[in-house]
Amino acid sequence: MSTPEYYVFRGCLIDTPELGTLRIRHNAALGVSCRNGRIIGVTEQLDPSVSSGSLVDAWTGNKVDESAIETVNLGSGQFLMPGLIDTHTHAPQFTFLGLGHDLPLMEWLEKYTFKHESEFQNPSLARTAYKDVIQRVIRGGCTMAAYFGTIHLEANCILAETIREAGQRAFVGKVCMDVNSPAYYSESTEESLQTSETFVRAVLGENNADDDSVLVRPIITPRFVPTCSDRCLRGLGELAHKRNLAVQSHLCENPSETAFAKECFPEAASYAAIYDNAGLLGPRTIMAHCVHMSDDDMRLMRESGAGVSHCPNSNFALSSGIADVRRFLDQGIPVGLGTDVGAGYTPSIIDAMRMAAAANRALIASSRDAGTEVKQAPLNASELLFLATQGGARVMGMQSQLGSLDPGKFFDALVVDLDVPNSPVPSVHSTGAVLHHQQNGEPELGWNLRAEQFVFLADDRNIARVYVAGKLIHSL
Ligand code: GUN
Ligand code: FE
Repeated sequence: MSTPEYYVFRGCLIDTPELGTLRIRHNAALGVSCRNGRIIGVTEQLDPSVSSGSLVDAWTGNKVDESAIETVNLGSGQFLMPGLIDTHTHAPQFTFLGLGHDLPLMEWLEKYTFKHESEFQNPSLARTAYKDVIQRVIRGGCTMAAYFGTIHLEANCILAETIREAGQRAFVGKVCMDVNSPAYYSESTEESLQTSETFVRAVLGENNADDDSVLVRPIITPRFVPTCSDRCLRGLGELAHKRNLAVQSHLCENPSETAFAKECFPEAASYAAIYDNAGLLGPRTIMAHCVHMSDDDMRLMRESGAGVSHCPNSNFALSSGIADVRRFLDQGIPVGLGTDVGAGYTPSIIDAMRMAAAANRALIASSRDAGTEVKQAPLNASELLFLATQGGARVMGMQSQLGSLDPGKFFDALVVDLDVPNSPVPSVHSTGAVLHHQQNGEPELGWNLRAEQFVFLADDRNIARVYVAGKLIHSL
């Protein structure tokens, strides 16, 4: 797939620049410089007589030569939107996708997960499995993901290389576990810290960890408190600070895990305090789940600026519980969506939006039935879309670079096509209450309703093209 110097997309743009704002620019033009991978201009209410040749590169200030531009005219069922962001997934766990959801977390780890992950000691498994994993994730419209790997240096390097070759944006973590782990899948504290440092060096090379234009970057990854010693956690905290790295882990996923974490560190005021004491909580930290949060856990997340990866599919599949997303949002804690494969059984972030809706409705209904009703509005389609894009960008520490279709941001974007053959989104609509007043360039059903259908009905079949940093990395 060759890349032109510039793209101009003409048609409908949909994004959520802020929580609760569904921005629809239905007759627009968006220019991309493929040289730096960024959006260089957006024109609304495009006069159809204006040609692409009027594009000015905001970077150079020069009018762009028409021959350098590839124009993409979006069809009637198509729109452009920011790429979906998966803030939490486990690459090695795709090999048992859809299996083993009959146990709660700690038993699930022991009976299935550690055994599967230990097989990645074999680099040839990593090579074949990870290629398939990354293609699958990209096909679903995910332009950036935070991946957990395994404890193995070589398999993790293969994972990072596979992602780089596929052109996806990612954080990749070498998983650390030096205590309470089976003999066949554990490491000493020294090995854990040494391998982490070697992995960081191997992935970053000469780059800086806070250079947002580097597509694949390492992330410090203590598996979770129960499998990490105090020395391991503190060593990882130091490494994160020394190299300016992001951090990812699990927090308050399940009641027995949360109790176990506190047993391991009886002096700590809360589960989050254990990470905080080790220097692992900060604005570049991603904590998955956050279901069973005490007030102190909430306070530490809020004050540190750490983000929550909400993983509803996984929380349902392992009976972990329901995270209160509205509570995080009301307190200003960043929230994005995670698939948490393989505890979650689908790698689709579109599906995660629906699961987040279901989890939110279940929480509202169960608190009402328990007589402890918390007044909160259900998360609507626009808010779900925000969580999957701009919310995820903030959790990744990249809100100024990703998450919406604004000039200056990286062009990590999708062309969505709702009208593909066998589309899960119906092409025939009844009129009545939902018939939208048609404007120039609007379909019969307004774009706001088509966006809602995307959230609640779409799947991989509707992801027509995937771009990362201005480069086409997948097309149907
Ligand atoms: N906690 C520690 N490890 C894991 C894991 O692999 N998956 C999930 N869902 N939770 C964890
Ligand atoms: Fe997880």
